[in-house]
Amino acid sequence: VRTRVAIIGAGPAGLLLSHLLANAGIDSIVLDSRSREEIETTIRAGILEQGTVEILDESGASDRVRTAGHRHDGIELRFAGEGHRIDFAALVGRGVWLYPQHEVLKDLIATRLAAGQDLRFGVTADHVEGVETDRPRVLATDAAGNAIEIDAEFVVGADGSRSVARAAVTGSSTGGYFREYPFAWFGILTEAPPSAPELIYSNSPHGFALISQRSATVQRMYLQCDPELDPNSMSERQIWDALQASVDGHDLLEGPIFQRDVLRFRSFVAHQLLRGRVALIGDAAHTVPPTGAKGMNLAVADVVLLNKALQALLLEDDSRLLEAFPEQALQRIWKAQHFSWWMTSMLHVAPDASDFDRLRQLGELRTVVESESGRRYLAEAYTGWPLAGR
Ligand code: DHB
Repeated sequence: VRTRVAIIGAGPAGLLLSHLLANAGIDSIVLDSRSREEIETTIRAGILEQGTVEILDESGASDRVRTAGHRHDGIELRFAGEGHRIDFAALVGRGVWLYPQHEVLKDLIATRLAAGQDLRFGVTADHVEGVETDRPRVLATDAAGNAIEIDAEFVVGADGSRSVARAAVTGSSTGGYFREYPFAWFGILTEAPPSAPELIYSNSPHGFALISQRSATVQRMYLQCDPELDPNSMSERQIWDALQASVDGHDLLEGPIFQRDVLRFRSFVAHQLLRGRVALIGDAAHTVPPTGAKGMNLAVADVVLLNKALQALLLEDDSRLLEAFPEQALQRIWKAQHFSWWMTSMLHVAPDASDFDRLRQLGELRTVVESESGRRYLAEAYTGWPLAGR
């Protein structure tokens, strides 16, 4: 089959790119090895930057984000048994939206299918060929085991942290800068009312906890844990006791826990984002630890840049924006890497932390909340830097 842009991966990056390209009259095929059901039900993060919401809404990709999502004008940073509000609206005049990633995916899939998008689930990309030519190809296999060849003018690897496309760009499936962290998050969904009006990011001697939300009746919470923890090894009582201890004085409203998972932490940036006519975006290009919710938002920022670059290339035969894409994308990627690392290291308790480390960390948290400049930096980064190229 032929198309103008072959997009590997039907996550937020791949689907939004196909949508923006279609708005500009550029055809694409999107393939994903997962089923539609798996994509639409996998629980991921829940916070959208204001710029992400504007793109989804203005491009016609999702209007439900405005009606079903909830605007949050701040968060609480909690440490030493006290909460400190970071007032985004007062500090930077911007906010974020609580709207789960799988809801964004449902909206995007419905929008793309209604527009006649060639969207293929259960199709696994095996290999990208012709990277340095004007006719790159994706070799793939469908669920029945049939080989499919997609001939395109450009190939986009939006295929997540275990990207197949990455090898075609960087020369190896792992090639990149990375660091690991000695902890992970134990995530739960519970049937309970919200315990607070806004999200709570809490540092305590017992470790970190994040109290997030999903709806009036379902809450999402995370607890710092050992990366090797078996999520089924703790009783509900043990989970609640650990969460209550980690929010250190804030009383959580408890309910039945109906979903558990362990999220591993990693920071990663691929050595290259572009080679010939293949580009990497989203988690294929970079992974951030979840603290601060930058993952999907960073993917959207990549898409905004690559969309403009591909329009210039494919509609006007002008490759300058594409040549500038890696450097432009990387500037934001490294800012987001820093912010995610900073939020992570400021709030978690490393297993080998000394008393000095613990007390220094409290000094750091106090530096942030007691300084308007500190609070403003956090608010700017959390609500999202301006999106270039819109
Ligand atoms: C959520 C996840 C995050 O990593 C975060 O920083 C805030 C919220 C969430 O899943 O709700």
